[in-house]
Amino acid sequence: MPKKTIPIIDFRQYRSIPNIPSVIEEPNGLLGDAFGRPLQDLRISLTDRCNFRCVYCMPIEAFGKDHKFMPRASMLTFEEITRIAKIFVDHGVQKIRLTGGEPLLRKHVENLIEMLSRLKTYDGKDLDLTLTTNGSLLGKKAQSLKDAGLNRVTVSLDALDDATFKRMNGVDYSVSDVLRSLDIAHSVGLGPIKVNMVVKGGMNDQEIVPMARYFKDTPFILRFIEYMDVGTSNQWEMGEVIPSAEVVRRISTHMPLEEIEPNCSGETAERWRYKQGGGEIGVISSITKTFCHECVRARLSTEGKLYTCLFAESGHDLRALLHGGKTDQEISAALAHLWRQRADRYSELRSANTKKTNSTGKKIEMSYIGG
Ligand code: GTP
Ligand code: 5AD
Ligand code: SF4
Ligand code: SF4
Repeated sequence: MPKKTIPIIDFRQYRSIPNIPSVIEEPNGLLGDAFGRPLQDLRISLTDRCNFRCVYCMPIEAFGKDHKFMPRASMLTFEEITRIAKIFVDHGVQKIRLTGGEPLLRKHVENLIEMLSRLKTYDGKDLDLTLTTNGSLLGKKAQSLKDAGLNRVTVSLDALDDATFKRMNGVDYSVSDVLRSLDIAHSVGLGPIKVNMVVKGGMNDQEIVPMARYFKDTPFILRFIEYMDVGTSNQWEMGEVIPSAEVVRRISTHMPLEEIEPNCSGETAERWRYKQGGGEIGVISSITKTFCHECVRARLSTEGKLYTCLFAESGHDLRALLHGGKTDQEISAALAHLWRQRADRYSELRSANTKKTNSTGKKIEMSYIGG
């Protein structure tokens, strides 16, 4: 029986305007939150629009023709994004990921990449500048993105079987077009390239082994993501989650795997390598093995709200500070004040309580805040 459509709550109205502390201190690249988690990773959503309608993210029943996307006038400009990013970088951010919706739908995105690629970390190094995309515009744009200073890309692909992929992306987009984009991105040097597959039980879990086999011994790192309870539109159910342990078990039956060390702390994926032949896979266990204790990620929405967790109930309106004429020092101090109080650990609490929602049930859609 088809599921009933749940209306999306207009989370965009929930916001607070950050306070500027009375004492303004200089950033030192070492900002920590209430649990000592550093601010290292900034994800910037460039648009809430997407040309796909993935069942787990923007199901067509909820994001149909009548859906009201954010008015273009309320989006941060590239200058504003760069100004805010610089403030984050001075507090310790080392990686910036551009997301959406589909970030390549944002006009002249290369100009923003050029501006961001000039920023340096607090200790003077280049940023890790990356982007998550569905691959539909990547083939066309790969070279210009690389030329603008983008280091690497992560591409979503949920199946190798065309019919399954089309069912999942909701817009009849073909696997072969994504595979072509991957090859082009690799050939222009946008690597290491990761391929993200969200596994939804009963929908694409039969594709786990074919996907692993296809990407084994290639330059692409395939990562299996547990289907998450983000937003309300996807009508998430625990029964549709395939635990990462099961993913590893299924692949190992055909191609034995062994676990390897993380690249760095705060990584979302656990890494496994093939015992025979080359290559590794990653598993992202947001449901069965939460990683809140080392979550170093902040998210900036398209219209300039800071979310300190993927499951936060409201955002902190940094654009209001920009438009209110606050100085960089004042905004920097407001950010420091906010981050020091950050105590989010939604996924850990969810698994402790086996609850489906946060306290109010207001959950932000992934397409709005970025993956
Ligand atoms: P790398 O820098 O390449 O290691 O990427 P990443 O793992 O930081 O980022 P990516 O955007 O590829 O994340 C993959 C998926 O992990 C996302 O699409 C989400 O499904 C999930 N994810 C990422 N960050 C978080 C987070 O902070 N909390 C939770 N619960 N899930 C997350
Ligand atoms: N569960 C897990 N990951 C999701 N994404 C979007 N919605 C979900 C969800 N419900 C992530 C996927 C996709 C990226 C853009 O966002 O990783 O590749
Ligand atoms: Fe678009 Fe990515 Fe969401 Fe799919 S997962 S609808 S490609 S933003
Ligand atoms: Fe970070 Fe929130 Fe995800 Fe936990 S649930 S890892 S705190 S974004």
